[in-house]
Amino acid sequence: MDLFEYQARDMFEKHGVPVLAGAVATTPEEAKEAAERIGTASGGVTVVKAQVKTGGRGKAGGVKVAKSADEAHEHASAILGMDIKGHTVHRVMIAQGAQIAEEYYFSILLDRANRTYLAMCSREGGVEIEQLAVERPEALARVVVDPNVGIDDAKAREIVEAAGFDADTAAKVEPVVKTLWTVYREEDATLVEVNPLVKTEGGDIVALDGKVSLDANADFRHPDHEALEDSSATDPLEAQAKEKGLNYVKLDGSVGIIGNGAGLVMSTLDVVAYAGEEFGGQKPANFLDIGGGASAQVMADGLHVILGDPQVKSVFVNVFGGITACDAVADGIVGALDKLGDEATKPLVVRLDGNNVEEGRRILAERAHPLVTLEETMDGAARRAAELASQN
Ligand SMILES: Nc1ncnc2c1ncn2[C@@H]1O[C@H](COP(=O)(O)OP(=O)(O)O)[C@@H](O)[C@H]1O
Ligand SMILES: [Mg+2]
Repeated sequence: MDLFEYQARDMFEKHGVPVLAGAVATTPEEAKEAAERIGTASGGVTVVKAQVKTGGRGKAGGVKVAKSADEAHEHASAILGMDIKGHTVHRVMIAQGAQIAEEYYFSILLDRANRTYLAMCSREGGVEIEQLAVERPEALARVVVDPNVGIDDAKAREIVEAAGFDADTAAKVEPVVKTLWTVYREEDATLVEVNPLVKTEGGDIVALDGKVSLDANADFRHPDHEALEDSSATDPLEAQAKEKGLNYVKLDGSVGIIGNGAGLVMSTLDVVAYAGEEFGGQKPANFLDIGGGASAQVMADGLHVILGDPQVKSVFVNVFGGITACDAVADGIVGALDKLGDEATKPLVVRLDGNNVEEGRRILAERAHPLVTLEETMDGAARRAAELASQN
């Protein structure tokens, strides 16, 4: 999960990274009020900043200096509702204005290819770092960080030396770099980026812009991270599936897919897309992996989510019986349809194979549910599901 700048700011503050005062506003009036409060510490000057999860906000006109609270109101009216690289601005952050002397760059990220962490640092910050990395790679220091050691005093020194800071600035940047490592480790981040990290006219080092990505695999260690989620941006079906513990991704097509095992579901998507070409371009409506246990409850949960998608015209249940045998899966399907009752309104094409397949097919045939069609092969089932989707 990527955080908004204001969330990163708050997280930095919590760990002791130097930041400027900042407050979120969703209306120009709130922005004005926040500017009145925050501006007092900086001679009335504040900066109105679009809160969208993309970089280059400054260039796009989403970061504006306001010399008064009225000007903050004006800027907020212009920035709220703005589109920045496909992201609509729903809130702005009113930040205390900084007197910038120099802009630097610092980040810590997960270097998957080398199975380690990487710190990057440059005395030339504020600019687009991707561009700097291409045009003047020598200006961007890259220092490997051993996950078992992290950024201690020695590593912090190595990083700022590699970036080429003068001794005075280096001494001030080092502790900030160490604190940013604390954020990275304690919050289980995969990216902590500060661009720019600035030196003010007064000689202080301050994180002016923050980008943080959190590792969802560590969510269980961070109950407080849930509150950082931007619920307005998540698809309601995906939110529902997540609540039920299902691996679901919404797609744009008409054929709902349920399978067990990520690999099988992936190939099911391919087979359906291929078969769908013959029927006016029918495509998969989702990815849904119900995993190993295909109990009636899990099956019902999965069907409930898929049938809640108005784009879905038919459903393809593709299950390979392994540890969970086909008869258990068939019981699951029958149980799910009974649980769903009138809610089940769209045709279901079922393909079962593997452990106890005969018994599984017998259970489904015996129940003879009017919505269920049994198919022997994956290709045949995909074709049938696409055909039914084209007819509905
Ligand atoms: N609080 C602030 N005070 C003064 N200048 C700022 C402040 N915040 C941002 N800026 C200026 O605006 C530029 C762009 O802002 P930034 O937050 O980095 O957004 P983005 O990276 O999305 O363009 C910064 O490089 C800095 O020069
Ligand atoms: Mg920036």
